[in-house]
Amino acid sequence: MEATLQAEVVAGHPYEERPKTKPIIQLEHIHKVYHTGDFEVHALRGITFTAHEGEFIAIMGASGSGKSTMMNIIGCLDRPTKGRYLLDGVDVSKLSKDQLADIRNRRVGFVFQGFNLLSRTSALENVELPMLYAGIPTAERLKRAREALAAVGLADREKNHPNQLSGGQQQRVAIARALVNRPAIILADEPTGNLDSRTSVEVMEIFQRLNEERNLTIVLVTHEHDIAQYAKRVVVFKDGRIKRDYLVADRRDARTELEQMPPITDDEEEEEEL
Ligand SMILES: Nc1ncnc2c1ncn2[C@@H]1O[C@H](COP(=O)(O)OP(=O)(O)OP(=O)(O)O)[C@@H](O)[C@H]1O
Ligand SMILES: [Mg+2]
Repeated sequence: MEATLQAEVVAGHPYEERPKTKPIIQLEHIHKVYHTGDFEVHALRGITFTAHEGEFIAIMGASGSGKSTMMNIIGCLDRPTKGRYLLDGVDVSKLSKDQLADIRNRRVGFVFQGFNLLSRTSALENVELPMLYAGIPTAERLKRAREALAAVGLADREKNHPNQLSGGQQQRVAIARALVNRPAIILADEPTGNLDSRTSVEVMEIFQRLNEERNLTIVLVTHEHDIAQYAKRVVVFKDGRIKRDYLVADRRDARTELEQMPPITDDEEEEEEL
């Protein structure tokens, strides 16, 4: 078992050996029990986990092991049944629903597998949306939305609707949307699940750049070992518990890989967008 895992993602030191910065996500003995009818599912069975500012963590584990459940709790979309969660030092279990929505809006950016963009709305308007909820004035909204689209390489596509963009471009709009409220944390649940391999590398290049340049904390769920290898740390879930937690020894660098790939010709790019 140990040998196969070694072959999948090259495991470095156990996580404990790493020098620590400021803790931003602190989960303490978190349990989550779902009740559906007479049926109970114990989705998380005592998760204790800390992420520090500037970490880039890949969450792995079999289907049903509790990865998305944990992401929902970290993102304040759901509450634990038992246990304590501190987000940037604030005990979120003590907050009201409104306070929770507010902290979520300001501190966390979400990126999902299915992009979750509004289809009848331009890229620019999609990116503006979280700022509308946050009550940011129009001029500032426009400025920040344009900056975020530029940061993901889509400055020239702001008027396009999602169906006029490729899958990778749609995911980049979703990343721009996750960035506009200047969150401390980006949570991404299988962000490359619907993308081909080159487009996945492009998306991982954006995450690696944001992590390096802005010191953003990134937590990303993936089933793919080669995607996990762009992260700095891997946490493996099994049956609602953390089974392994280690640093990636042989980390991949998306920018270098993209530079080494043959360029896409205009023809191919147009085909991709059809
Ligand atoms: N809203 C819900 N109500 C009831 N049970 C749920 C709910 N959400 C998740 N579960 C159950 O909790 C367990 C953990 O689910 P979770 O979605 O966290 O798994 P996952 O690791 O993200 O899986 P996948 O890799 O398939 O996305 C599963 O057994 C699932 O059926
Ligand atoms: Mg899931």
